[in-house]
Amino acid sequence: MRPFRLLQITDCHLGSQPGEKLLGLDTDQSLYDVLHLLQANEAPDMILATGDISNDGGVASYERFIKIIERSFPNTPLAWLPGNHDDPMNMDQVVNLPIEAHCVRGGWNMIFLDSRIPMEEGGDLHANEIDRLDKQLAAYPRLPALVFLHHQPVPVGSTWLDQYVVLNNEDFFKVLDRHSNVKAVCWGHVHQNFETDRKGVKLLATPSTCVQFLPNSHDFAVDKAMPGYRRFELHANGAFETEVCRIKDKVYKIDFASAGY
Ligand SMILES: [Fe+2]
Repeated sequence: MRPFRLLQITDCHLGSQPGEKLLGLDTDQSLYDVLHLLQANEAPDMILATGDISNDGGVASYERFIKIIERSFPNTPLAWLPGNHDDPMNMDQVVNLPIEAHCVRGGWNMIFLDSRIPMEEGGDLHANEIDRLDKQLAAYPRLPALVFLHHQPVPVGSTWLDQYVVLNNEDFFKVLDRHSNVKAVCWGHVHQNFETDRKGVKLLATPSTCVQFLPNSHDFAVDKAMPGYRRFELHANGAFETEVCRIKDKVYKIDFASAGY
């Protein structure tokens, strides 16, 4: 049986109107480029967007996002979770609501958490989300599990970004430690590839579909790395492979000298 192929895209920062720019980069254009790369290389069983889907939180930006994905992948289920730039009330206004919060696909238990603190940039997991994580892991003790959220639950090595680490990450990891079936935790927000290990669980960050941030930087700094996505190949026996893929041979007009965004 071929593995279940899950593709993660993140931090698209789309506007309610086409032409939204982040640090000079047209976020529609870079999302289209990532989707073209996906179309050329992938046959996804599901696409997941891990927050900061919108830059302005407007309903129109979510409708546009869904239409753009549907145009490239009309038959592929779409799941999403909110980031600090998103407005979950507006996300729920869309006509074709993507999968939210939780699903079981390809013999894997997938949990999508809301790590936002309203009106703030940093992350925290509300007691309800910690409780839901515990219950949804306990409900499928025989299935391998993936946990997704927007904010990083561990520092990624950049001082300016790590002020936004999930505040109650200890509570989060306490729950994970109670369940031996969690294979990986994966997030967005930091606009860069990052991989580490904790007690046999892979901890992964995924590049944005638009601007990238420079790894291991004390202050805000934009990276020259290209936009991309992450592929998971999930085997029914609980094994998995994952890889980050990026656009190649493209030059974007980005304000690399910017001191913030
Ligand atoms: Fe974010």
